[in-house]
Amino acid sequence: VRKIRPKRDKKTKSQLGLGKEIKMTFRLGIIGAGRIGRIHCDNILSLHKKAELLAICDPRLDHTLVTNKSISHLFTQEDDFFCQNLDAVIIASPTPCHKRQIEKAIERRWHILCEKPLDLTLDSHLEIRDLLSKNQVKFQIGFNRRFDNDFAKIADYQKTGKLGRPYYVRITSRDPGLPSMEYLSSSGGMFLDMSIHDFDMARFIMNSDISEIFARGGVLTDNRLLEIDDIDTAIITLKFDNGTFGVIDNSRSATYGYDQRVELFGSQGSLANNNHHTTTVELCDEKGTHQEPLLDFFLERYQLSYAAELSAFIDSCINNKAPMPDISDAIHAISAAIAAKESLRLHQPVKVLKP
Ligand SMILES: NC(=O)c1ccc[n+]([C@@H]2O[C@H](COP(=O)([O-])OP(=O)(O)OC[C@H]3O[C@@H](n4cnc5c(N)ncnc54)[C@H](O)[C@@H]3O)[C@@H](O)[C@H]2O)c1
Repeated sequence: VRKIRPKRDKKTKSQLGLGKEIKMTFRLGIIGAGRIGRIHCDNILSLHKKAELLAICDPRLDHTLVTNKSISHLFTQEDDFFCQNLDAVIIASPTPCHKRQIEKAIERRWHILCEKPLDLTLDSHLEIRDLLSKNQVKFQIGFNRRFDNDFAKIADYQKTGKLGRPYYVRITSRDPGLPSMEYLSSSGGMFLDMSIHDFDMARFIMNSDISEIFARGGVLTDNRLLEIDDIDTAIITLKFDNGTFGVIDNSRSATYGYDQRVELFGSQGSLANNNHHTTTVELCDEKGTHQEPLLDFFLERYQLSYAAELSAFIDSCINNKAPMPDISDAIHAISAAIAAKESLRLHQPVKVLKP
């Protein structure tokens, strides 16, 4: 563990609006420095002049992560990390750690940006909602796709009413391959780990809550998933409160790259995004028309959305704005994911709880 005393700017610039003063720099910590934690780390360091990344904690801390970077405190022990003097924390540890770490952060009155899902049960979400309501701490859930320009444009257009009466939203979300078995075994399974982004996206685009879900799914690509009671392929149909419908198709195995498409279809037309390729260049020759490959995975495809998500979080903390997406969005998405899991088990439609 390396400890270097950080340079602090003690000048007060503004109020957080929560009875707590904010220094010139907004002091952030990251707990969990794996795939997603490193993205947040890079974004803070490269984009946010007023945010100081003061501490990182990861039991398997990889020091190459911070080579040449000005992070003052590196920890392998969670307790040491939670003794720091921070304004906010980004929780990017494995999902089973989130709830405990959120509770510790709330105790310290740190604002929280937590990766999805908050936890694997609805009860945990409700406990955290309760704690947040008693403590003036901001909580944003890591549904970064809301900050993607393509999807935000579709959602905004839907709100204008120019697409007429919406009929259904169609979401294709296919990963290029499986994450590690270690990751998968604590992830909560495909619906809670992967489709949860799509449940949130469907609700965001349709601007209505999901009322009922019918999910089919199975293991078509890798039998190791059977051992951990997970699936790799799913087709999910949705009914929304506003009488419209949705369909999500998910796969953990798209051999051609990261496939992320949304279409909203309504009485005045349809609105859809295209996949992102490594370049927009097209080759036309005697064999046909060829494009560059799709972007490889979420790190590349959603790079800008992670940066925008972080900016929104910092803005909500510094300027005392309501965070978005918040704990209620986390609750809706986990309820939908749990309903999908139940629907798969029962082979029938299941109502989405709205606690
Ligand atoms: N928003 C997104 O697009 C997105 C993408 C990937 C993952 N995630 C979520 O982010 C979280 C992490 O996923 P990942 O892909 O980065 O996983 P990962 O396995 O790559 O990284 C997790 C890191 O957490 C560390 N860790 C383990 N126990 C810890 C503890 N007690 N405290 C702190 N750190 C601990 C591990 O050593 C590892 O470095 C998961 O909840 C996942 O669902 C979100």
